[in-house]
Parts: sequence; C-alpha cells; structure tokens
Amino acid sequence: MTDNTRNDGLMPFHAMEILKHAKALEAGGLTVCHLELGEPGSPPAPRVIEAVAKALPQAQGYTNAKGLIELREGLAQYYAAQHGVAVDTEAILATMGSSAGFILAFHAAFAPGARIAITRPGYPAYRNTLVGLGFEIAEIPLALGNGWQLTGADIRAAHGRQSFAGLLFASPANPTGAAVNRAGLADIVDTCRDLGVRLISDEIYHGLHYRGPSVSALELTRDAIVINSFSKYYCMTGWRIGWMVMPDALIRRAEILQQNLFISAPTLSQIAATVALGERDYAEEQKAAYAANRLLLNDGLAAIGFDIGRMSEGAFYVYAGISRFSNDSMAFCQTLLEQAGVATAPGIDFDRSGGQGFVRFSYAGTRQTIELALERMGRFLR
Ligand SMILES: Cc1ncc(COP(=O)(O)O)c(C=O)c1O
Repeated sequence: MTDNTRNDGLMPFHAMEILKHAKALEAGGLTVCHLELGEPGSPPAPRVIEAVAKALPQAQGYTNAKGLIELREGLAQYYAAQHGVAVDTEAILATMGSSAGFILAFHAAFAPGARIAITRPGYPAYRNTLVGLGFEIAEIPLALGNGWQLTGADIRAAHGRQSFAGLLFASPANPTGAAVNRAGLADIVDTCRDLGVRLISDEIYHGLHYRGPSVSALELTRDAIVINSFSKYYCMTGWRIGWMVMPDALIRRAEILQQNLFISAPTLSQIAATVALGERDYAEEQKAAYAANRLLLNDGLAAIGFDIGRMSEGAFYVYAGISRFSNDSMAFCQTLLEQAGVATAPGIDFDRSGGQGFVRFSYAGTRQTIELALERMGRFLR
C-alpha cells in the first residue's frame, strides 16, 4: 500500500519542479537560462575521463567497503597538504556522494529518533533525509543581517530552547554561500563540545571560498564527523562519489553500515576520484570562472532591485531577497520562468517559513547564461 499522505513534513525539492517545468517549456521552443541547480557546467578534468576509459574493462567488481586504498591515501595526502592534518586512511570511507555520507553519519553516531540540529535556511535534503530516516529536527534560524552566519551563541540559544544530540552544518553553505573563518568554526566546535553535541561538518563546498582558505573541522577537533564530496569542486555531480572522515569511536560502526547499506561506493567513480585529487589546477580554473560570475551576478541583481545583503563568501549561490517584487517565492519563480525564461530556486526550498521572500540563483554555469539571465530579468522586472 502506498503512503503519500503521511504527515511527517517530507517535501518535494521545488527547484526540481522548476527544472521539470523549464524542460517542458524548452520542448515547446522557449530558451531558458538555468540558474536553478547547483551543478558545475563543466565536465571533470580531462585526465579523469581518460583514466576511467582505461580502467573500464577491469573495474567491474565491488571494492573494500571503505573504498580503494589508493583513493583513501590520496585523501590522506589532501588533508596533509591542504589542511596540515594527519588523517589515518582507516578513518576515511569513500561514499556514494556526500548524500550517502549523511545516512552513514546519522546511523553511526545517533540513536534512532535522536534530535539533530540544522540551520534555517539550509540545504533541503538535510531536513528531508532526517525526516525520512525517522530523526527529529531542531532548526537554528540564521539572519540576513548577520550575513547568514552560524555562531556558537546561536547554537547555545537553540539548545537552551530544545536540546539536540547532533548539529549538521555546512560552510560554505547552501543556499546562502555564507562561510565561517577559523575563529568562527572554532566557536562552533567549542560550543558543540561544551554542550555534548556531535558536530557533522559538511565540507562539500570546500575549495570554493572567495576570501580565504577553507578551514576543515579536522584542523580543530577529532570528534567531528567530516563529510565531503567530489560533486562540486571537482565537477563530478553525476559520478556519485564523496567521502567521510570518522572519529575513532565511530569508524567500525560506519564501516559495518556501509557494508550493509551500500556495500561500496561505485568502483569506476572511485578511480575517477583518485585521479581528480591530482587535478586541482583544473578545479581552480573552474573556481576562477565562478569568482567572476559571482561579481557579475551580485552587481546585476542589486541593480535590478534584489536585496543582496552582504556578498556571499563561498559555494556558487546568491540568496537574494525579493521583497520589491513578491512575497511568494514559488509563484515568483514560476512567473520568472514562464515570462522571462529564467529558471531559479524558490526560497521555500531552504526555509519553509522565511523563504517566501527569497530566491536562490546558482552561478555555477557559464558567464553568457548569467549575462542573458540578467538582461531578461532586468527587462521583465523593471
Ligand atoms: C550543502 C550540500 N551538501 C550536500 C549536497 C549533496 O551532494 P552530493 O551527494 O552530490 O555529494 C549538496 C548538493 O547540492 C549540498 O548543497
């Protein structure tokens, strides 16, 4: 018997509904500027493709549940080189994107039904995954005026209202692009330690910082679960490959869960990821294009009348206020799509209460797409 009506708060990802609608309009002849999804427009580095083509005939089986040792050694080298921390390859698990990492982390670290805190606004799959797996949620509201930054004081205040066992948080963040610096992250890590809250640090947008270096939670603590992915910085969304670094006490449980839930991450994707780690120059070229797009989009949106607030520091999103135009973000996105040919993600995806006043724009695509989108929106909204 199907149950589509269970009232547990599971919600569709409205950006995907916009994408579906955009595809239908395109099939009817309209051209659409796609700014709704957080996907790099470029393929992975050429050497990644070459290595996979070569490996294809042999790479048909499962790997060790934790992943290929070559990949885990490459990741340990990455932490030594980029973050100055020694990570044991035994503590690393290759996962099916960071999305699978979340499932392993929740089940490895928390009792069934435990309450986990997430920020609002935040990445919608956090909430939906927790709901789908039967965990409770505590929301920590963030403020535009504070650049959407999460602070130790925010965590403490939320915990005072309703205690929680874990905190899942990303820096840089989706949808706001807000990023904490070393002192900000230390404040979060210290607060979690004081409150006995297990921190899960989603570092998927690491590398995509426009002001300073990305600081990993591993530089500050070994108690946090660190989750990362090849999807964004390495342009490999569809390869479904990521990784996690577990605290000692949780490694074995995570390994057993991986053996049973997923067996192993896809073998070819692990080979691709191993090569991608050595292709940071290519990734930096993509980042330089995002950095230029970021300025173009921020200035262009502000000129049209969107509320930009403090310019975001990382990832590839602008979370813009639409108070001059609408108080219904989904209706606004539908209109923008149908009448201006620009696809965007409504704020209600990221914040069910305050998100009506916001829209998320992704600048992971090409400069030409952003220029055309700005021209179309300018004409339509002015
Ligand atoms: C903050 C954040 N975490 C995790 C993910 C999931 O990424 P993946 O499963 O492709 O690694 C996304 C995707 O957009 C994201 O924005």
